[in-house]
Amino acid sequence: MAEPFDCMIRGGRVVTASGTFDADVAISGEAIAAIGRGLGEARRVIDATDKLVLPGGVDPHCHIEQMTAAGVVNADTFATATTSALFGGTTTVIPFAAQHVGASLKGTVADYHRLAEKGAVVDYALHMILADPTPEVIAEELPALVAAGHSSIKLFMTYDRLKVDDERFLDVLLAARKAGALVCVHAENHGMIAWMGKRLVERGYIKPKYHAMAHPRLAEVEAFGRLIAMARLVDQPVMIFHVSTAEGAAVIRQARGEGTKIFAETCPHYLLLDASALDKPGTEGAKWMCSPPMRTQGDSEALWQAIRLGDLQVVSSDHAPFRHDETGKLKAGPGANFKQMANGMPGLENRLPILFDAMVSQGRFTLEKFVEVTATAPARIYNLHPRKGSIQPGADADIAIWDPERAVTLADADVHDATGYTPYPGRVVRGWPETVLVRGTVAVAGDKLQIAPGFGRFLPRSGGEAARPTGRLEAELDPARNFGAELL
Ligand code: URP
Ligand code: ZN
Ligand code: ZN
Repeated sequence: MAEPFDCMIRGGRVVTASGTFDADVAISGEAIAAIGRGLGEARRVIDATDKLVLPGGVDPHCHIEQMTAAGVVNADTFATATTSALFGGTTTVIPFAAQHVGASLKGTVADYHRLAEKGAVVDYALHMILADPTPEVIAEELPALVAAGHSSIKLFMTYDRLKVDDERFLDVLLAARKAGALVCVHAENHGMIAWMGKRLVERGYIKPKYHAMAHPRLAEVEAFGRLIAMARLVDQPVMIFHVSTAEGAAVIRQARGEGTKIFAETCPHYLLLDASALDKPGTEGAKWMCSPPMRTQGDSEALWQAIRLGDLQVVSSDHAPFRHDETGKLKAGPGANFKQMANGMPGLENRLPILFDAMVSQGRFTLEKFVEVTATAPARIYNLHPRKGSIQPGADADIAIWDPERAVTLADADVHDATGYTPYPGRVVRGWPETVLVRGTVAVAGDKLQIAPGFGRFLPRSGGEAARPTGRLEAELDPARNFGAELL
């Protein structure tokens, strides 16, 4: 007689990015062993009748235990942030190892490894934020760290003490190209934001709602155009983070149409909220302050359309958690102006339920598209697929079992992260992840966490297909007409 499987998820409806079908899922050890009917016996059976069996979400953009350049530390630890991810059906995260000016990149990455190893309950990879790409960092630390499995880099075009000027930006693009890493970018024009912010504050417009005005739409459009031109010059693939405007999405569409290898993401708050959320009494609006800011309902419609067209491939959370008190948003005091308040909102926990409701329950998209933008596409782009982001034999058994009919009212009191609030209080969502498995272990069942901090493992990865240059540069290289091979 055949050896029983360790676990069987029986009677559910399995959803992948390419199809939905009724099947049991058999698990041996940490991996999916078989998918089908009549697979045999198992030591443990999870009844999934009337439930959807989805791959655990992959959230490729979240800030955890990070300190801002202004010295404000995230509310969450790896334990609280990844626990909140799990309760929202997410089983893989890619947070940042954030270098500060003057710091060693190697030392920074080692620090984040220590924090993640101790606290994470889900598996994780790391992006490296380069705030100070010195010649030493570029020549020595970066290639070694990419080779050790950190194959994506984040650069900022704005924020004091984080932004990298165009010349150094090109240095990093070229270094990434050589090392085989994807470059992710926060693309907003710094001068426009600084200039607008200063003029607003000088005139006494200091409330959180003016944050939205201080980040002009044109700042996004200009920076996208400049970024794309730099990426084309070096033929280096880039991922544009948190797209917020219709015009930004149009720039991406045009560049992709011209054959530029760029990827792009947006976040639930740009799809489902607008700038009016910041207009609240006192400093309350600070809870919704993020960069870029939320825009208009028209922008949200354009972003949904960009997802439909494939111009945006991923919806990440950009979880950037700060409490609305003196430890976080109000660190500079209750009378602080919006320029003195930390940017960012919690998002790891609500990303999937809020998107399931908006995409599937409200009929905007298919279940498959929901799985694609929240799990499969991020896993592919960041080269974690097929181990993560899909339900298929051999993949890690990271699975979320959803009740598609369960209605839940989102409330501050129910969040598992350390911010103490949800950006969507009072919103009723239909569809909820009730049981979540990480590598075959039941991690969440109902309202109970069943695994301990430290369960999560590091996922080293190479850059993979997404990070590979198109080859256009080599094809065009002609020593008689241009720089030739010396450029590379
Ligand atoms: O406001 C945000 N998104 N803060 C987090 C840092 C970033 O820009 O991604
Ligand atoms: Zn950013
Ligand atoms: Zn971010």
